Amino acid sequence: MNAARLPAGRPRRRDVLAGGLAALAAASSPSAEAAETEALRRLAAAKGLLYGTAISAGQIDSDPAFVRLVLAQAGLVVPENDMKWRDINLGAPGHDDHRPGDTVAGFAVESGLALRGHNLLWYFRTPPWFGALPSRAEQRRAVIDRIRAMVGRYRGIIHSWDVVNEPIEPKDGRPDGLRQAVFLDALGPGYLDLAYRTAREADSKALLVVNEYDIVLDAPGQEARRTALLGLLHRMQSAGTPVDAVGIEAHLRALGGPPLSPARLRRFLADIAGLGLTIQITELDVSDEFAPADIATRDRLVADMYRRFLDAALDEPAVKMVVTWGLSDRHSWIVRRETNPVRWRRDELPSRPLPFDAELRAKPAFTAMAEAFAHAPVRRPG
Ligand code: XIL
Repeated sequence: MNAARLPAGRPRRRDVLAGGLAALAAASSPSAEAAETEALRRLAAAKGLLYGTAISAGQIDSDPAFVRLVLAQAGLVVPENDMKWRDINLGAPGHDDHRPGDTVAGFAVESGLALRGHNLLWYFRTPPWFGALPSRAEQRRAVIDRIRAMVGRYRGIIHSWDVVNEPIEPKDGRPDGLRQAVFLDALGPGYLDLAYRTAREADSKALLVVNEYDIVLDAPGQEARRTALLGLLHRMQSAGTPVDAVGIEAHLRALGGPPLSPARLRRFLADIAGLGLTIQITELDVSDEFAPADIATRDRLVADMYRRFLDAALDEPAVKMVVTWGLSDRHSWIVRRETNPVRWRRDELPSRPLPFDAELRAKPAFTAMAEAFAHAPVRRPG
């Protein structure tokens, strides 16, 4: 990779760690509370778990206090949007802008953080020109080129790649449960095999992940998604398609969502583990759109969901990674009100979905995560 030049003056991990957490407190007084707490990455690592957060090139370039917090807390980062196809190439085939992705990758390498790749194919962030390509052969070519370019560029740096993001949608009515969307329309269900094989050829070491949402709660729609996902994994394995891990997004709700059944979740995770696959929690956050305005009450409800979800999920030793979709409420897609209006509060209050607040102070959700890691059984790192 031609790692982008990193801006001077940005905090470096060795400085943060050299001064210990006291340096974090001194460097950014609002973080004092965070500095008194033990780092999530350490608590996770003690159990064989990798803890990380989503981040963006923009945050790396412009928010040193947040970067310090990431360096203190996280052992892994994942670009929230900076490697998505549509985000790096709105224009035409071959005109990728790798600068934001390189900034995140350069930051990870320089800081000694593991890096997830997110994502190679996602129906929701595919450039409009892809669907307009004149033939199936050209669409196939574009998929292969995209995967070779990205996986090749970051070979040796990426811990895990979300190769196909959100391939399941039982509501689309196909017997195989696959989402009836752009790649399936263009190339048929074989697009999954093509994508994973191409990724493996381009990097034999990175873990290849199927990343999916709405699969942890006790609701008929989520049960259907779990069944369809297990079916897909089984078919991939029977066909010799290289797949190593399942990514569980876990965008949860503090109140008002379907219930969490720990027993059912454990069973599902055990089913995945039974296929010999690793499990990664890839996008954990807890939205509070149905929780009362009072901050103490809201934070307690959010923390409670973090605790109940992690306590159940971490019982499964095949779970090797926990990633929150951001670290502080200062930078969250829910707080920014992007994409997903059902997660937005109807009053004017900002949401509080992450472990640290917008001033980078640890919240009850942080304590819940720290305790869940502390209680988790030890596993072999993966
Ligand atoms: C979201 C980002 O957080 C937003 O900034 C963007 O506008 C849309 O995508 N599932 C995924 C993530 O796999 O890539 C999504 O991220 C959230 C849902």
